[in-house]
Amino acid sequence: MTVGGPTFDLVVAANRLPVDRVVDAVGASTWQRSPGGLVTAMEPVMRGKTAAWVGWAGEPGPAPEPFTEDRLHLHPVTLSLVEIQEYYEGFSNDTLWPIYHDAIVRASFPRKWWNTYRTVNQRFAQAIVEVAAPGATVWVHDYQLQLVPAMVRSLRPDVRIGWFNHIPFPPVELFAQLPWRRALVEGLLGADFLGFQRTADAENFLRVCRRLLGMSTEGETVTFTPPGDDPSPRTVRASAIPISVDFKGLDALARSPEVVRRAAEIRVSLGDPEILMLGVDRLDYTKGIRHRLKAYEELLRDKAIISPKVTLVQLALPSREHIEAYRQLREEVDGTIGRINGEYSALGSPAVHYLSHAYPRPEMAAMLLAADVMLVTPLRDGMNLVAKEYVTCRHDLGGALVLSEFAGAWHELHQAFTCNPHDIEGVKATIMHAITTPRDERRRRMKALRRQVAEHDVQRWACLYLESLASAPLEPHRPTLASDRERRDAERANRANLRASDRAAEG
Ligand code: ADP
Ligand code: F6P
Repeated sequence: MTVGGPTFDLVVAANRLPVDRVVDAVGASTWQRSPGGLVTAMEPVMRGKTAAWVGWAGEPGPAPEPFTEDRLHLHPVTLSLVEIQEYYEGFSNDTLWPIYHDAIVRASFPRKWWNTYRTVNQRFAQAIVEVAAPGATVWVHDYQLQLVPAMVRSLRPDVRIGWFNHIPFPPVELFAQLPWRRALVEGLLGADFLGFQRTADAENFLRVCRRLLGMSTEGETVTFTPPGDDPSPRTVRASAIPISVDFKGLDALARSPEVVRRAAEIRVSLGDPEILMLGVDRLDYTKGIRHRLKAYEELLRDKAIISPKVTLVQLALPSREHIEAYRQLREEVDGTIGRINGEYSALGSPAVHYLSHAYPRPEMAAMLLAADVMLVTPLRDGMNLVAKEYVTCRHDLGGALVLSEFAGAWHELHQAFTCNPHDIEGVKATIMHAITTPRDERRRRMKALRRQVAEHDVQRWACLYLESLASAPLEPHRPTLASDRERRDAERANRANLRASDRAAEG
């Protein structure tokens, strides 16, 4: 269809396009922002760039025609209903997802899912090479596309290939359960550079190469002889480059008079609670929503907190609803919140405000700005960008972040109020600590958290990633001139934002 169409020096490939096509009851179609952290992070990085993004448009059936938004060429890939069931819901989210998240629920291993995963990965690889200019940079994202790097390399040895994993990479003992473990690793090793969220994830990958597949590793690199006709060994680098948020853009949004006004309105509409707690998650069993609700319910039961003086807003965006574990989670969360509200609400003041909608960015920023305590309590999460979004929005240095030590963000956000979500007593104590810590101490913590995110924003992440990819398997020496300039501009703006926030807080 697009053979002979436009080609690009930079091609991004992810399971989803940044927008999903939504078809309503009368067949009219519209585009809306896709859910999840990958799009949140990549959208500001790709905005205004001349590049292609290859991905699924979120609906079964023939893909829409490629189209251009701003300067970004969106190149939809077709998935049939069966492929959605077997590649996306099945192998990606019912085999890999549990294994990559500490087997919080049991993984399933049907063989036909694997075949479909391979077929769909091959389709993505074909779509990528159709839009990749000679010598292009191809940036593949996430666990849904782990075979794509080797497939692209065999079709187009001229391009440079990177892969970034937005979720954790499991320890060797868990990865070893996968019947297709060798093929998955060989698929990834088609890349020149592999990026991970945490050092532990990169180390897990290197350990898998060494222990499970007998490859030779040194520092952050693995050297191996690829399967196939060409016997020359290749070396691939695997490093941690933690993802982040668009500090400058989100901070500016959260400072806008409309968002500041809306944040105040939200508090009033909730009955002006003394303490407003907030959780913002996709409805996923990795997010620790059940544990958080248990802790909240026990605090109410123990009268450590009293509704409606303290209130909880829980945004829980339904996700992957055809998968049994997600269906069960939704039932449990619905039931638990119903029980808490039955027990602890007063007329017109629910103890938990439970919202399942997708909100526009300004509304999200207003909710984050309004919240006194942000609860980010995953059992395991690659990053949990919501934690970084919260501190970015708190330009007034208000608020307190309660953060699970199993979130990738915990490895950077050292001034958060830390908890182990499995330890319900510990979560309760941490919430109470966040609530009762003196204001000055909370502001000191928030200031440090904001500095960390401002200095490590998503623009820096993208520059570092692309520099690492360009120089792999060697370590990058210095930023390119273009990224130098972009970095300096972003750093200057972030410093100005921090100063303004300090001034506002002092005044
Ligand atoms: P994940 O990628 O697993 O969903 P992250 O915390 O990394 O988790 O990213 C979630 C992203 O989705 C964040 O940018 C967050 O603001 C956004 N988000 C979560 N819930 C909603 C919602 N109800 N409406 C709009 N955006 C949401
Ligand atoms: O990073 C994990 C991830 O699967 C991303 O690929 C995506 O941004 C997010 O979670 C949402 O998941 P899904 O695309 O399955 O709705």
